[in-house]
Amino acid sequence: MSLLLSLFFFGLMDQLCTTQIKPQIANRLFITNNPTLTTIALEKPFCVFGSDSCSGCNVYLYGVDVASSGLAVVDDNGVPLNSNFQRTNGGRLAPYKVASFGLPNCKSPPQFDNAQDLTQIANILDKYLVRIGDNVTCLTDPNYLGICNPPLSEGTTYRFRYILVNSTGKMADQTLWSDSITTRTVKDMSRIDTWPGRRSGGMIVITSILSVLVFLLLAAFAAAVLTSMMGGSPTGANATMHESRTTQQASSEAYSGVLRGSSLERERYVPKPQA
Ligand SMILES: *[C@@H]1O[C@H](CO)[C@@H](O)[C@H](O)[C@H]1NC(C)=O
Ligand SMILES: *[C@@H]1O[C@H](CO)[C@@H](O)[C@H](O)[C@H]1NC(C)=O
Repeated sequence: MSLLLSLFFFGLMDQLCTTQIKPQIANRLFITNNPTLTTIALEKPFCVFGSDSCSGCNVYLYGVDVASSGLAVVDDNGVPLNSNFQRTNGGRLAPYKVASFGLPNCKSPPQFDNAQDLTQIANILDKYLVRIGDNVTCLTDPNYLGICNPPLSEGTTYRFRYILVNSTGKMADQTLWSDSITTRTVKDMSRIDTWPGRRSGGMIVITSILSVLVFLLLAAFAAAVLTSMMGGSPTGANATMHESRTTQQASSEAYSGVLRGSSLERERYVPKPQA
């Protein structure tokens, strides 16, 4: 029992001394299209490090391609490495410094209720999130040695880690490496449903079947209406047609008879030339 207790105690101590938290991908409530082809948004480390208030402290964010064999972010003296995007071949050789910002204030996390307009929301998101891959400025100078946060490679898997640097410029705390996060590929993007612009094959088949069914239903309805308009049984309709045809034939015969008769009459009354 005492062994269990002490195990629990030391486990707790371990948690208190080194931050066991991983950087988290931004909550889908705040940002839906994440990751994109070239960017990944992470939540800033609110209430993550032991010391909430730390004057002169800064947080550094490092990123690394999972293909990299090196994972060091500080030297033997605990001083953060100034590796940047260009020199680490975009994180393929070693972790690179993605961003640097002040320690987020744990006691006043961003309040979304206060947001009145879009610019305010953008500001709050900026305080709450860090976007990896959204600054192309440093790409114009290939020899740039400062912090550089240019677009990531598509379909590439990265991991990230925050470290807390105190006023002496040494690492005072750090998170674990994040879970692997993979940027999208163009193929992924085309698979995103952009209804109603794009429809799946299954949807087209269902639509076609439904249209055929509706057509058949309308045709049946039209036939039913026609039948009832013909006044009852189909045989009655045939009889009427037959009768009318006979009448027509008879009357045309009578008419031609009249014509013939009249021509005879005309012959009779044509004055004979006088001999
Ligand atoms: C973009 O990066 C440059 C240096 O690479 C930096 O000076 C600038 O402040 C950054 N811009 C933003 C909006 O972070
Ligand atoms: C800064 O961090 C280093 C390494 O953790 C520590 O030895 C030093 O006392 C810290 N300095 C301050 C002023 O907190």
